Amino acid sequence: MYILLFIVVILLGTMAYAGYSAAPWVPTRARDVKRILQMADIRAGEKVVDVGCGDGRLVVAAARDCGAYGVGVDIGIPQYIHAQIMRMRQDAAVRGRTRIVWGDLFQYNLCDADVVVVYLLSKSYDRLVKKFEKELKPGARVVVEAWPVSVWEPTKVDKGSKQDVPLYLYKR
Ligand SMILES: C[S@@+](CC[C@H](N)C(=O)[O-])C[C@H]1O[C@@H](n2cnc3c(N)ncnc32)[C@H](O)[C@@H]1O
Repeated sequence: MYILLFIVVILLGTMAYAGYSAAPWVPTRARDVKRILQMADIRAGEKVVDVGCGDGRLVVAAARDCGAYGVGVDIGIPQYIHAQIMRMRQDAAVRGRTRIVWGDLFQYNLCDADVVVVYLLSKSYDRLVKKFEKELKPGARVVVEAWPVSVWEPTKVDKGSKQDVPLYLYKR
């Protein structure tokens, strides 16, 4: 009984920590996933990293629909497990091009990423901008959902319809 309680506390604890660290788990809607892939113009073989990947839907979609290598990083254990299950349900080719990492997104090195997807609270942007400016290679693209990065000039803005989440594309 105590072991079960301990496990539940750990699972919920990592979710709570994620909410405090950069953002709680709020999945991107399927139609917005498509808009993100289009906006980033992802090509086969590119490495796409979703920092705070939730259930891994963007990672899987980038690999399945664009032929990219998708990596998702999440610190929430329930999100990590969910993303792994989502990944395991894909065919072998897509599984081979996807990876889900359990850990802190601020510790994941982005030096070989071609595209980074961000759906996090703007309170995390100061740390993210420092990290991106240090690690991202020239030409890397960053797609940010919901809130723009005030210190960068977007290359493209897609506000979509009233129900859509605004998207911002930045180029390094
Ligand atoms: C708004 S959700 C976005 C989920 C996913 N990217 C999507 O678009 O469906 C933010 C995610 O970031 C994760 N997260 C928050 N802080 C984190 C951190 N420091 N390291 C890794 N993941 C984090 C949360 O667990 C959550 O799953």
